[in-house]
Amino acid sequence: MASVVALNPLYSKTGDSSVKTLTDRMKERTTDVHKTAETTPFMQNLLQGEINKKSYCQYLTDLSVVFGELEAKLGSPDKLLESLNIPLLFRKDLIANDLEVLDEGVLEVGTAAQQYVEHIRRIGSDKPHLLIAHSYVQYLAIMFGGQMMKRMVAEKWEEAVQFYDFSQLLEENQFRSTFEYARSYKDVLNRVSLTAPQMDEIVQEAQVAFEFSVQMLQELE
Ligand code: HEM
Repeated sequence: MASVVALNPLYSKTGDSSVKTLTDRMKERTTDVHKTAETTPFMQNLLQGEINKKSYCQYLTDLSVVFGELEAKLGSPDKLLESLNIPLLFRKDLIANDLEVLDEGVLEVGTAAQQYVEHIRRIGSDKPHLLIAHSYVQYLAIMFGGQMMKRMVAEKWEEAVQFYDFSQLLEENQFRSTFEYARSYKDVLNRVSLTAPQMDEIVQEAQVAFEFSVQMLQELE
């Protein structure tokens, strides 16, 4: 029990800034793989405004099943994760709207996305606390790098950027910016009541979440 207190992020809020929060630890653990994700050809092309519509729709199709599975789990009754059930944060329907606007027809879900969905399904039943790592990786990706992507996508298809849009969530909770909300979302993740071993597993799982994401990105042109 003592080790829980030593690593509990709430403890760090009492003044000991040397104690790292869970999100600090996930960020530190995934610095290298974040670089890998950022520099995949698909992401580089996207940031340079070279967006192929079919690839972008494939990207959204893959994300729609990943967010769909994640949000189904986050939305189901679970005492531990109830603070992560934030319907205005959920992206599944917004991705579906973007896909409808882009009107590329129904695409087959990629292999990596299928495997990622299977993984989320498995941990959702066996180790639901690990979903914290996937929430961290997927939602913060949209709140940070995603805001740069939004600008590039909007230049081509300004009606198809709901995936990146948090305005309703910001308005209803009186946040001034997505970045301000991102800080608050990290607090939500850091406040989940966890044991020290669970936290260690979540830090490791953040790496796994990035690896699935990189595999998905590498399948895209
Ligand atoms: C071109 C693509 C991307 C760019 C330019 C980008 C850029 C950024 C930037 C500038 C930050 C803020 C870093 C900081 O505050 O120190 C960030 C944070 C983050 N990004 Fe990315 N990113 C990209 C892709 C991705 C992808 C594909 C993922 C995962 C699927 C991802 C996950 C994250 C996460 C989880 C954070 C939060 C780190 C933290 O503050 O704890 N990013 N990104």
